Parts: sequence; C-alpha cells; structure tokens
Amino acid sequence: MAEIAPGAVPSPNIWNSPQTYELENRAVDPDGVLGAAMRAIRPWDGATVLDIGCGTGFHLPFFAGTAGRVVGVEPHANLAAMAARRARDLPHVTVRTGAAQALPLPDFSVDVAHARWAYFFGPGCEPGLAELRRVLRRGGTAFVIDNDASRSTFGGWFRRWLPSYDPRAVERFWARQGFSREALTIRWAFERRADLAAVLRIEFPEELAEAFLGEVPGCEVDYAVNLWWRMY
Ligand SMILES: C[S@@+](CC[C@H](N)C(=O)[O-])C[C@H]1O[C@@H](n2cnc3c(N)ncnc32)[C@H](O)[C@@H]1O
Repeated sequence: MAEIAPGAVPSPNIWNSPQTYELENRAVDPDGVLGAAMRAIRPWDGATVLDIGCGTGFHLPFFAGTAGRVVGVEPHANLAAMAARRARDLPHVTVRTGAAQALPLPDFSVDVAHARWAYFFGPGCEPGLAELRRVLRRGGTAFVIDNDASRSTFGGWFRRWLPSYDPRAVERFWARQGFSREALTIRWAFERRADLAAVLRIEFPEELAEAFLGEVPGCEVDYAVNLWWRMY
C-alpha cells in the first residue's frame, strides 16, 4: 500500500492510472487559456510558486520556466516521487509529501498558490483555505481550477455523473470565501481517439464513459472550467 498523507481526497483517476492521467494532462488546454488567464491576474516571474496536489508534477516545469522557486505538495507518496523525478533537473523545484490541510511550508513564504482539480472542490475545503491564508505572503494570490458543471460538453457529462452536484452552491461558497471567478472554456484535444476513450474510462463509470465516447465524433471535447482566484 502506498503511503498517503492524512486528509487526502481519494483520486482514483491519477492514483490508479497515472500514465493515463498523463495523457489527459497532455490533452488539456492546448491553447494555453489557463496559463494566460492566471498570468494576466498575477504573473509569477521570480516568485515562489506552490502547486498543491501536484500529482505527478505535470505543471511544475511550466511554473519553473519563470518562477524563482517552485514547491509541489502531494499527499500520495508514490506520485510525489514521480513529481520529484520529473523535476530532478530543475534545481529550483522541490516536491514535498503533504496535504492541503497541513502544508509543509513556513508562514508567509509563498507568492502564488495553484491547485488544479485537487482538494479545493468547494464546501469542506475550509481547513486548506486556512492554510493558504497562513502560507501566502500579503499580496500573494491563490488560484483554484475546477470544473464548471453549468455548461460545455464536459460540464454536461459531469452533471450526468453527479446529478446532485450544485454549481450554484459551489459558486456561492467561493464568493463567500472572497474568491473571484473567471469562467473559461478550454479544450481537451487528444492525438488518438483511443486516448480519449482511455481517459473517459478513468474519469467516469464504465457505462457512462462508453455513452460519452459515442457522443463526440473525433478527438476533441469542449470543457468549461472555473478559475477561482483571491489575493491575500
Ligand atoms: C485529479 S489529480 C490532479 C493532479 C494535478 N493537480 C494535475 O493537474 O496533474 C488530484 C490530486 O490531488 C491530490 N490530493 C488529494 N487530496 C489532497 C489534499 N488533501 N491535499 C492536497 N492534494 C490532494 C491527489 O493525491 C491527486 O494527486
């Protein structure tokens, strides 16, 4: 059994199938919409960036391109090890095993925090938000990227999978926490339809994955996301 830090939210997609999740990450947002939107709000050139729930560290090199220092935090020790391997030639990147509710970082030591499809899913993530308040420097910015289930092909699939999910309640939660919302539309663009099929199978129960695959003709899916952000 892999060592997993307390408080981790089970993430079967990447925990069980990191190679397929890698295909998913490669397909997400080929137009760079998310990076450009974050940069427009708070650039991280020379700054200290924290990636919470960094998984296998897919986004660490992206931030490391211009950041002064990057720290990835990941509760699943095997994934943290994969992230550390990915970043081994980047001396200003470190990876720590830990969870959002107990970040292994000193007070006021981070300029930009980023959590992408990780832990910060709305109500229930208050302990992690308290940690963000502790570790972010004044003037620092937190980014949370998650699904916008109210629109797009992917959003519709998400609602059919989780009919009790209430996008408006999630929106109200983030507004109460002082976060602003950028509603963005990105694409999943796979090289092969077989990769899209494999990713659907790690994201949804089998029957739904097959149905959803039948609803798109090629290798692309339009995908609505919310970029929540707050300055501290
Ligand atoms: C869907 S994956 C996304 C990984 C990564 N952010 C990416 O975009 O490639 C969700 C990640 O959140 C991590 N996670 C789960 N619970 C967490 C927690 N309490 N604190 C921080 N990360 C957590 C999981 O271990 C997993 O690696």
